[in-house]
Amino acid sequence: MAKDGEKNEWKEFIWNPRTREFLGRTASSWGLILLFYLIFYIFLAGLFALTMYVMLQTLDDHKPTWQDRLSTPGMVIRPKADETFEIVYNTKNTESWDMYTQTLEKFLTPYNDSIQAQKNDECVPDQYFVQDDSGEVKNNPKRSCQFNRTMLGSCSGIHDHYYGYPDGQPCIIIKLNRVIGMLPGKDGQAPYVTCGAKREDTDKIGKLQYFPENGTFNLMYYPYYGKKAQVNYSQPLVAVKFLNISANEDVNIECKINANNIPTGNERDKFAGRVSFKLRINKDN
Ligand SMILES: *[C@@H]1O[C@H](CO)[C@@H](O)[C@H](O)[C@H]1NC(C)=O
Ligand SMILES: *[C@@H]1O[C@H](CO)[C@@H](O)[C@H](O)[C@H]1NC(C)=O
Ligand SMILES: *[C@@H]1O[C@H](CO)[C@@H](O)[C@H](O)[C@H]1NC(C)=O
Ligand SMILES: *[C@@H]1O[C@H](CO)[C@@H](O)[C@H](O)[C@H]1NC(C)=O
Ligand SMILES: *[C@@H]1O[C@H](CO)[C@@H](O)[C@H](O)[C@H]1NC(C)=O
Repeated sequence: MAKDGEKNEWKEFIWNPRTREFLGRTASSWGLILLFYLIFYIFLAGLFALTMYVMLQTLDDHKPTWQDRLSTPGMVIRPKADETFEIVYNTKNTESWDMYTQTLEKFLTPYNDSIQAQKNDECVPDQYFVQDDSGEVKNNPKRSCQFNRTMLGSCSGIHDHYYGYPDGQPCIIIKLNRVIGMLPGKDGQAPYVTCGAKREDTDKIGKLQYFPENGTFNLMYYPYYGKKAQVNYSQPLVAVKFLNISANEDVNIECKINANNIPTGNERDKFAGRVSFKLRINKDN
């Protein structure tokens, strides 16, 4: 029957006892094919390893090979506003602000004065802390400057463990993302942070207080040489305390970095050098 014939054909294709062929090939033919692929893949793997090796030789462990030239650093705030960039709480409801103060507490722990004194140097303020390599001789590891928690005054969490949250005078902390080799601020003028309300909210934001004074990132924290070269680097911070912000209303706030050589909000990245968030403090009686 046709069906049986087909079946037999299949059987013979898989194993043909007359020609001793498996799937249409003899054992030696299969062997040669396997050998060919084995050698082929070993060759490919070898080529890949060689290419990687040569590439890695050209990489510097301490410096990225490629870095954006026009790098405007991003800014971030703590406590981290969630995806919606909102900090919303009720002064009377501890649970609603507890997570914010805990985040700040955790974030600031490495800035404890004692820890900073142990890890980092007391640098000369208002000038760059340059530690260049002399030619091929690497000047590693590089030292870093102390950023003491106490420099954040009433936003340091040392005297006021709740960072002003239950009083309706919350602190937020701002940092610039690290950019290797960046020297912000021309002519010895340190970059500083300013925060303001978006247009319709200008009369709601109230007075602000900055720590350290004037909201500056001191020049001594620059340049940054990278994680590997500068192991103990502590990013400088600026804290902002909202002294008299309107309650029970959304207040849209934008903070930005001011430096005479950092362009903010350029064509390529509207959010470069600035951060926006919503702050709403509810006060129920
Ligand atoms: C950091 O300082 C705070 C407040 O002074 C203290 O409560 C905390 O235990 C310190 N943490 C470390 C790791 O030293
Ligand atoms: C940081 O705190 C330590 C310990 O109190 C102190 O010795 C050091 O001078 C402070 N550094 C700065 C830059 O204020
Ligand atoms: C980093 O900090 C440790 C202490 O935690 C210190 O022993 C070490 O010397 C520091 N290294 C540099 C390069 O600052
Ligand atoms: C803060 O700014 C004011 C006015 O520009 C200036 O007089 C003062 O010296 C600055 N303070 C610091 C610590 O830079
Ligand atoms: C706080 O803001 C309110 C308006 O929102 C204003 O009437 C009051 O004078 C401000 N207080 C201070 C100390 O600035």
